[in-house]
Amino acid sequence: MSVPALHLRPAWALLKRHHQKVRRLHLRQLFAKDGKRGERLVVEAAGIYFDYSKNRITDETMELLLQLARESGLQDRIDAMFRGDRINTSEKRAVLHVALRAPRGASILFDGQNVVPEVHAVLDKMAEFSQRVRSGAWKGHTGKRIRSVVNIGIGGSDLGPVMAYEALKHYAERSMTFRFVSNVDATDFAEAVHGLDPEETLFIVSSKTFTTLETMTNAHTARDWLLSGLKGDSAAIAKHFVAVSTNAQEVAKFGIDTANMFGFWDWVGGRYSMDSAIGLSTMLAIGPDNFAAMLEGFHEIDEHFRTAPFERNLPVLMALLAVWYNNFFGAQTVAVLPYEQYLKRFPAYLQQLTMESNGKHVTADGADVNYDTGPIYWGEPGANGQHSFYQLIHQGTRLIPCDFIAFARTANPLGRHQDMLLANVFAQTEALAFGKTEKQVKAEGTPDWLLPHRLFEGNRPSNTLLLEALTPAALGKLVALYEHSVFVQGTIWQIDSFDQWGVELGKALAQRIIPELESAADPELEHDSSTNALIRRYRKLKRSGP
Ligand code: F6P
Repeated sequence: MSVPALHLRPAWALLKRHHQKVRRLHLRQLFAKDGKRGERLVVEAAGIYFDYSKNRITDETMELLLQLARESGLQDRIDAMFRGDRINTSEKRAVLHVALRAPRGASILFDGQNVVPEVHAVLDKMAEFSQRVRSGAWKGHTGKRIRSVVNIGIGGSDLGPVMAYEALKHYAERSMTFRFVSNVDATDFAEAVHGLDPEETLFIVSSKTFTTLETMTNAHTARDWLLSGLKGDSAAIAKHFVAVSTNAQEVAKFGIDTANMFGFWDWVGGRYSMDSAIGLSTMLAIGPDNFAAMLEGFHEIDEHFRTAPFERNLPVLMALLAVWYNNFFGAQTVAVLPYEQYLKRFPAYLQQLTMESNGKHVTADGADVNYDTGPIYWGEPGANGQHSFYQLIHQGTRLIPCDFIAFARTANPLGRHQDMLLANVFAQTEALAFGKTEKQVKAEGTPDWLLPHRLFEGNRPSNTLLLEALTPAALGKLVALYEHSVFVQGTIWQIDSFDQWGVELGKALAQRIIPELESAADPELEHDSSTNALIRRYRKLKRSGP
């Protein structure tokens, strides 16, 4: 089905007109008019209670947004993704991260081949390796067991593993240490190995391409660190380095035995790969059974996304609401606010997932878009954020739709903490939506001069996602939810959510500048005057150092 450009879809014009009609409606009015709104605008699926009632929408808004989804050919796109079509058109690749969590025995075809058995073969290999390391059967070069694991990777080969490790720390093998190195800043490496014993350390070099500058630099530094700790015996590499990659040739070139390589496929995008072999550090930390439970959580949402009618489809609803604020209210950001300390790296993880996916200014066909695409995602764990940036969300001049993520049960039930934490979630969404009127502020005896400062306009939208507990399965569900929401948004905007050409230019320029910084003789510089001057100043400063 050929889909018309966004501004030519009937729902687009209807939504524009509708927005003019409803944009001044206040959530106070909407709730007053419908005593059941808070129970009606709720969807429960896969153990997630999704309350979207505190959004600036009417029933008509949702009907029009759903019409927009249909006119955008969303069902066809979902089917195409699950069918293994090459929907990443600029890279001519299929997008099959859903196959990474398909149960054994399922069938997902790519180029006529069922990829699920291959996926499970890698999972089995990961499980076997994890068991050996965790049990101490896998020995380091000097015969000691592995007690520390350092994942070296960047972007999708780091953010997912770090986030998942932090999120599932409660399930992790606490007698082992897990560290993560991503930055080419040597401090990252130095701090990651600080206090570690090379004899007991395993490095996982995680890189889809195995050519990424930061990762390969860190991997070489790791090899030097290991060998200098093990008296230069290069036979040690085999026991202390494994690789996760799609590029066996480069892995072998680095010196890692490809028997110690865990593969994945070019139909897995970097930012969609935490549940592939890129999750090896996660599996080492939480064990194969918990990893399998995480995959089941992912799969449950995949099935929900694939089969649920759009009006009860969590990722679809989340995406449509994001489009509503992004394209009609002109909101530039979305705040993600997990009220769960273990999810402290979740917003950072989502930044790559959302912004590398949907930060595009041309459609998949290469036409300039004349509407805004991917909003900026940001956030911090709740409660802490309240004492920092929430001021701006409550009383600033910008509209910031928020996703509140909360869990009924904590892994650390101490005293009254959990009730207090959850009270804050509910209080914040209530305060944002309903604010505090002049009448209310006056009734508290506030002097007139202070009134404007103490008013809360309200009408600040939010979603609340309430789950039972942050289990491995729940983490899988949350990630899949956002993955598919990103895809739905990209579908409406007709962009390729699976390429990332925008990261290339900086990489290429850095390659050109490195020798200019390193050369002994002053180099001929042919950049702009600012870049030339900065390079010269850096060269001078580093020469003048201690
Ligand atoms: O920064 C761009 C990027 O290609 C990301 O998409 C990717 O996750 C990251 O670099 C790391 O790539 P690789 O896994 O190939 O090292």
